[in-house]
This record gives sequence, structure tokens and C-alpha cells, in this order.
Amino acid sequence: CMAGDPVNINEFQDLARQKLPKMYYDFYRGGAEDEHTLRENVQAYHRITFRPRVLVDVSRIDLSTTILGHSISAPILIAPTGLHKFAHPEGEVATARAAAACNTIMVLSFSSSCTLEEVASSCNTVRFFQLYIYKRRDWSALVVRRAERSGFKAIVLTVDTPRLGKREADIRNKMVAPQFKNLEGLLTTQVASDKGSDFQAYADATLDSSFSWKDIEWLRSITSLPIMVKGILTREDAIKAIEMGAAGIIVSNHGARQLDYSPATISALEEVVEAVKGKVPVLMDGGIRRGTDIFKALAFGAQAILIGRPVIYGLAAKGEVGVRSVLQMLKEELELTMTLSGCPSLKDITRSHVMTERDRVR
Ligand code: FNR
Repeated sequence: CMAGDPVNINEFQDLARQKLPKMYYDFYRGGAEDEHTLRENVQAYHRITFRPRVLVDVSRIDLSTTILGHSISAPILIAPTGLHKFAHPEGEVATARAAAACNTIMVLSFSSSCTLEEVASSCNTVRFFQLYIYKRRDWSALVVRRAERSGFKAIVLTVDTPRLGKREADIRNKMVAPQFKNLEGLLTTQVASDKGSDFQAYADATLDSSFSWKDIEWLRSITSLPIMVKGILTREDAIKAIEMGAAGIIVSNHGARQLDYSPATISALEEVVEAVKGKVPVLMDGGIRRGTDIFKALAFGAQAILIGRPVIYGLAAKGEVGVRSVLQMLKEELELTMTLSGCPSLKDITRSHVMTERDRVR
């Protein structure tokens, strides 16, 4: 460890803040409107404590698991986030290499700054592709076909973004709308806002807000890949997603960038897990900054978690090496948490290992 090397995820965030131009840092860090949910996504973990069990043989800890049949070294995936080249010149290729080195799955964003083909050929590992539905559905369909051809193993359909949330830092900074690489040659006109965020103007011009449950059938008709639905926060929608044939559910509020005053994802997780009844895997993301946060999500029934901003902070701070360190750090913290809680493997982690305010009143 060199002097000044970050020892936790928050210190990676400090490094990223120092390195990045303000417009980009604000874009990565920011949430919607009052940023109430942004704070809650992190703070809700602080209100959950442990019920550790002692005198268990914890000399060997096994963090490995499988997602849709693919083995990974720890239940920590990379969430889809756009525009990695604003964080580091190698962009998503560096992130993908770090994921491969750590033997985990990266979900590549539809809004990536490297093409999906570049990412696919950069290294050999299991990858999922995140999809937005554009007004030009034929463009979305074309990108899905390219993802299939490039060997992506699942489609992660993001369903919480019929329009972009109101991200005030981006409006203030007049955030730019770069050419999204996967749409190169398709979207030829540059969209700009006369005032405010070009990024938002671009989203408003492209996203299809008419896409609804029945259209998932259309998506299933154009791809044979399993479809995970990302952005579920209620039991009602979890049940619907399964009815529509979802292969998995990701409890997410888009890193608090969409509907402010959505619940913290750790607070919504249990409701969804109970509704799903084990029919499909439930994953979650939002606010994970510690191994203890991951343990809490697993205790509420998540199969795995995804991290968004921590990856970007690692990438901005130190490129591929930084993303590796972030993944490794969270993995080591989770391993230590399991050790000190008396859980040698992921299946040993149960609801009875954590305690909420509500449990204390009971
Ligand atoms: C995102 N997220 C996101 N989600 C998605 O489905 N497609 C996308 O292109 C993006 N882009 C994106 C950019 C940035 C800068 C952020 C911070 C987030 C949401 C992302 O997948 C995930 O849900 C959250 O980032 C998880 O919360 P944390 O880990 O960032 O707190």
C-alpha cells in the first residue's frame, strides 16, 4: 500500500473529485431534485445493525455464486453506467478488463462511450447488456442484435426511465451530450438545449415513454437472451415482471437519478423478495459503499448486488487498476463481515443476521 492509497470507497470518491472536471464529477455524483433519495440510498444501511453469531468455524469463507447460471467470484456486479470516457480515456474497455480480472459480470450501458463490439473484443468474460428503448425501436432492436452477436449473455432492460429525472447539477453546468458510441451512424443530428443540460435534451429526444408491460413481448420476440428487468421497487411490479417472463429482477432507483423520494433500495428490497418467492433471482443496487452494505442486502434476500458510482470513482482515480481495487476492496470487506458474523458461505447469511428499527419494536 502506497502512502495516500485509498483504504475505502469514500476515499476513492475524494480522489475522483480531485481529478475530474466539475461538470463530469457532478454528473457522476448527482441525483434528482432534492437528492433526498440519493442520501437515503446510503443512509438507510446505517440504520440496519447486525445480529452476529459466534463460535462458527470461519477459517474458510466462500463468496462465490452464480447469476443466471454464470459463476462469479463474489456477489458484486458492475452496474450499467454511461460515459466512462469522461472518467478515463480508456473508458468502458478498462472497466471490462477489471471485471474480467476479478471474475465478475459487467453490465454494459446502452449509453457507453466505447462501442459494445470494442468492449466485447477487449477481453474474454461473461457480460450483460443494458437496454434503453428509444422512440426509434428499430435502433434499440439493432443494438440488441449486435449485443447477441458479440456474445453478451443477457439483456438488462431498464424500466425506470421513460424520461430523464431532473438532475439540477447537470442543468446548472449545462452538461454536454456526447455522441453515444452504440448509436454512431444512426443518430446523426446533435441535440442541444438552448438553456440547461444537453444530456437531458438528448434523452427527451430519444427515449420512448410509451413503452409499457405489453411491449416486453415485443422485446422477447426479437431476442432469445434472458431479460432482467432493472428498476423495480414494488411487489406489484415484481409480480408483473415475472408474469411477463423476466429471468431476473433488479431492485433499483437508478442511483437516485430518476424519481426523488423513491425509497432507498435496501428498504424496498424485502417487499420484492417476498413477492418473488424465489421464482427468479432478485438483485439490487444503490448506495453500496461497504462490504457490510452488501451483507445487509444479501440478508434481505438479494442474490447479488451491483455497484455504479464506486466503479466510476475507481476508474477516474486509477483507471483499470482503480476499478480492480474497488471490486477487491468490497470483496474483502464482505469476506470480513461474513467472518465476524459467523457465515462461512453466502447461503449461511439469513434475515436473522440483521436487525432493523422495526425488528427492535417487535
Ligand atoms: C447510472 N445508472 C444507469 N442505469 C442504467 O440502466 N443505464 C445507464 O446508462 C445508467 N447510467 C448511469 C450513469 C451514472 C453516472 C450513474 C451514477 C448511474 C444507474 C446505475 O445502473 C445504478 O442503478 C446506480 O448507479 C446504483 O447506485 P450507486 O451504486 O451508484 O449508488
